[in-house]
Amino acid sequence: MENRPTFLMCRPEHFAVSYVINPWMDPQNWARDRRGQVAAAREWQALYDRLLEAGARIELVPPAAGSPDLVFTANAAVVLDRKVLLARFRHAERRGEEPHFEAAFRALQARGGIDVVRKLPADLVLEGAGDCVFDATRSLFWMGYGPRSDLLARDAVAGMFGQDVVALELADARFYHMDTALCPLPGGEVLYLPTAFTREGLAEIRARAQPQDRIEIGEQDGCRLAANAVGIGKTLIMSGAGARLRAELAERGYRVITTPLRSFLRSGGSAFCLTLRLDRRSASARPASRAAVA
Ligand code: ARG
Repeated sequence: MENRPTFLMCRPEHFAVSYVINPWMDPQNWARDRRGQVAAAREWQALYDRLLEAGARIELVPPAAGSPDLVFTANAAVVLDRKVLLARFRHAERRGEEPHFEAAFRALQARGGIDVVRKLPADLVLEGAGDCVFDATRSLFWMGYGPRSDLLARDAVAGMFGQDVVALELADARFYHMDTALCPLPGGEVLYLPTAFTREGLAEIRARAQPQDRIEIGEQDGCRLAANAVGIGKTLIMSGAGARLRAELAERGYRVITTPLRSFLRSGGSAFCLTLRLDRRSASARPASRAAVA
């Protein structure tokens, strides 16, 4: 794969809110709304366009009838250094997505886009980058556990990728995937919602992010899923942010692009959830010349 930031996405052709597996989802409300599908298609397309404008390349998973949450490709797998650890889902409602994602990665592998595709050990549950995000600044994975992923999956991630994994217990049902509440930014800051984590989890975050690198958000930005952001260089793409957060990010040199993703918030997801970064490399996997400079 070339150097351009590359993401996996899935068109929302079959997106719907048709079951309840998190507190954001209300199938009755969705069923009453005849414009839901059209709005979702428009919002998704705008996100896709913003990513292309920011210099991204996008691979697509074919949409599948009966898998309304397949659009949330962040949940497909953990990907680093051209290696893919396929997700296993907690809820039966999403398990049907597993073969679709696996087929997409096998196809990518056949085209030379990635090297290794592996499954989690039996019985372990881990919902991909929804709960396991690589922090290139600190050379570690932040991993959320509890609602959707098992603490024991930590060893599988550490073993496969050879990186440290910092496990954070999630404490608020609304922020059931870690990516809804924590985002390592390209410049080295960590954007997060403190109340989404247990006391121990919060201590882990603060132990690894220096005070000047902590961007703590409040409940209001938290509920806009502002922490569910996609970072490309100094560009941050998110569904919404309050004035204070915007100002703070701008002060730190970020260009904040907001693109409304209300339809997907109705399912508990936003910008980061709708994408999966495929080209991330750890420091140890980068060419020696670059490592020597760093
Ligand atoms: N309705 C989906 C679920 O509950 C939303 C997933 C959002 N994805 C994410 N990476 N947080 O699983």
